[in-house]
Amino acid sequence: MKIIVIGSAGQLGYQLCRRISSISQLYPFDKKSLDLCDHSLIRRTIRSIAPDLIINAGAYTSVDGAESNRMRAFQVNGDAPGILAEEAGLCGAGLIHFSTDYVFSGNISRPYLEDDPPNPVNVYGESKLMGERNIVATGCNYVVLRTAWVYSDSGNNFMGKILSAGTSQTGLLNVVDDQIGTPTGVGFLADKTLDIMLKVYSETSGFYMPKRVFHLTPTGFTSRYNFAVRIFQRAIEERIELKIALEDLQPSVTTVSPNLAIRPPYSVMNTDSVQKYLAQEFEDWHKEVDITVKQIARKFEPL
Ligand SMILES: NC(=O)c1ccc[n+]([C@@H]2O[C@H](COP(=O)([O-])OP(=O)(O)OC[C@H]3O[C@@H](n4cnc5c(N)ncnc54)[C@H](OP(=O)(O)O)[C@@H]3O)[C@@H](O)[C@H]2O)c1
Repeated sequence: MKIIVIGSAGQLGYQLCRRISSISQLYPFDKKSLDLCDHSLIRRTIRSIAPDLIINAGAYTSVDGAESNRMRAFQVNGDAPGILAEEAGLCGAGLIHFSTDYVFSGNISRPYLEDDPPNPVNVYGESKLMGERNIVATGCNYVVLRTAWVYSDSGNNFMGKILSAGTSQTGLLNVVDDQIGTPTGVGFLADKTLDIMLKVYSETSGFYMPKRVFHLTPTGFTSRYNFAVRIFQRAIEERIELKIALEDLQPSVTTVSPNLAIRPPYSVMNTDSVQKYLAQEFEDWHKEVDITVKQIARKFEPL
């Protein structure tokens, strides 16, 4: 089986490649080798490989950057997924694509269901929604996995920023307490993506994806501030040397230091559908935080 992974150098793409390389013929592409803005290169690349499955983990993920780089965000997150889906349809490949909780406005007070109407409040969310819609419109065999608040033991993510501030700064650290969501470790995300892939393969002897959108995060939810508290608590237990004390983490509100892009205040997603599909009960978000802080702590240990 030939599997293309796009965005192979990203947080998720890297973890997917690690897992897939041991079970299948892997064709990894990073931004240098396959720029999602180059539509004719996308088409030529896919046609020359004739893959069984295309996984798109590539995206323009800077939520604030998208406000000023609107065109690029729409090219990468909106147009390119449609091209990938067209090519998947033409060569009979399945397509797994990732989207975001930011397709929702965050103005309700219960977890979002897959068929709740999206209503993004920023350019990043608009561009990702366009990508979803372009895929669905082609009628190819797709799965769109909406995830949220992705972090890993490396890369530019919330956990990395909190630990970097905690180990290099002194004084108070303000973290917003009025944005609620579900932190999603990249290990969890890659494992569940593989579970979906393997289930489809075992049921269809191919990658005839069920043409569905799923919400894919661990269970539970928290605020950015409480996420940071958990990271600090675990870092202290793992003996990572913090210069900022736990009590110097301060709950703050978004309006005090607003970002360029508006954030949904509540973007928790209901994951019952994917749990039922996989016949699994997902773990709570804390578990992967603990695992990831432990992995980071090992990097701090002297050799
Ligand atoms: N990170 C989150 O908090 C979050 C939340 C919800 C949903 N998601 C979705 O989850 C998926 C995986 O995200 P992630 O956290 O793994 O993001 P990531 O670490 O930023 O990885 C995205 C990858 O795509 C690459 N890329 C950017 N522009 C590209 C282009 N024009 N052509 C080809 N590749 C390009 C990036 O390369 P460069 O780094 O060199 O630009 C990067 O390697 C994405 O679909 C994202 O929208 C992420």
